[in-house]
Amino acid sequence: MTKKRILTGDNPTGKLHLGHYVGSLKNRIRLQDEYETFIIIADSHAFAYPKYVASPEIVADGVLQVTMDNLAIGLDPTKVTFFAESGIPEIYELGFLLSMLVSHNRALRNPTLKEEIKDKNMGDNYSLGFVNFPIMQAADILCVNAHLVPVGEDQLPHVELTREVARKFNSTYGEVFVEPEGLVGEVKRLVGTDGNAKMTKSLGNTIFLSETEAELKRKISSMYTDPSRIHPTDPGRVEGNPVFIYHDAFNSNREEVEDLKGRYKTGKVGDVEVKDKLFKVLNELIAPIREKRAYYEAHQDEVKEIIAHGTAKTRAETQKTLNSVLEKIQLR
Ligand code: TRP
Repeated sequence: MTKKRILTGDNPTGKLHLGHYVGSLKNRIRLQDEYETFIIIADSHAFAYPKYVASPEIVADGVLQVTMDNLAIGLDPTKVTFFAESGIPEIYELGFLLSMLVSHNRALRNPTLKEEIKDKNMGDNYSLGFVNFPIMQAADILCVNAHLVPVGEDQLPHVELTREVARKFNSTYGEVFVEPEGLVGEVKRLVGTDGNAKMTKSLGNTIFLSETEAELKRKISSMYTDPSRIHPTDPGRVEGNPVFIYHDAFNSNREEVEDLKGRYKTGKVGDVEVKDKLFKVLNELIAPIREKRAYYEAHQDEVKEIIAHGTAKTRAETQKTLNSVLEKIQLR
């Protein structure tokens, strides 16, 4: 029996962090044996953001960084296919054809686009390519006819659009596409170390998966907690407190977490102890990732080879899909 497929991936605009980990990476690792997995490094996609238009060197380097992060968390390159979007011009072709099935209004009616326009202060200066990028993302997903798309919650509107486009194509021209399902992690959205609702590089509130021990310690010790608590003997607030949100998300020792919470609420534990315990937990998660990443950093040719090999394989699959599409629209 052939396995169902996963397609997911990342914009290569910097190193991956704990927000990516809980949202999507954890599911990628968990499902890599059950599904035939494709990981897209969406390099051309990155140019949808004004910040990267004139900085191709950041994107080029990001391709390696993001692939190394994915390998370091334990995705097995002998099972998982990594590919660069720019290596598959057929995706552009497919994206162009799919864009004919989406009205301009529909493309704009996307909460994540609106949020990004606001958060990144794009005003009304965003490019046509920016508005179109969810449609390109649909092409990414549909080019291998993926069944499942593990992503962070913010990406769900794009998966919804992908489903609509697939349905529209199939009903207009005949069955070609699978309608993919989105899958989000148990922790839907991780707060930043500053208490902001979202961990994101643009706010500088991230903990990277490649963090050094010293940097990890520094970031945790300066984390936002309960601002109204001044002395360890003051009763503290656990709800909405980032340090406890992280304990809930990453500390599998439930007993310890409940004990800390109980003592925090009654003013019987200091922030230092709560943070020290969090450091231990996160360092245990990150240490093996750090070690594996060091291997790939020292063997970057191997990483490039993994991408080149995966891109060739994905391209062959995409060509099959595109041929069916062109046949159905009588362009061939
Ligand atoms: N837009 C996604 C992000 O910001 C990255 C991405 C590009 C993606 N193409 C994709 C994710 C296809 C899932 C499927 O993280």
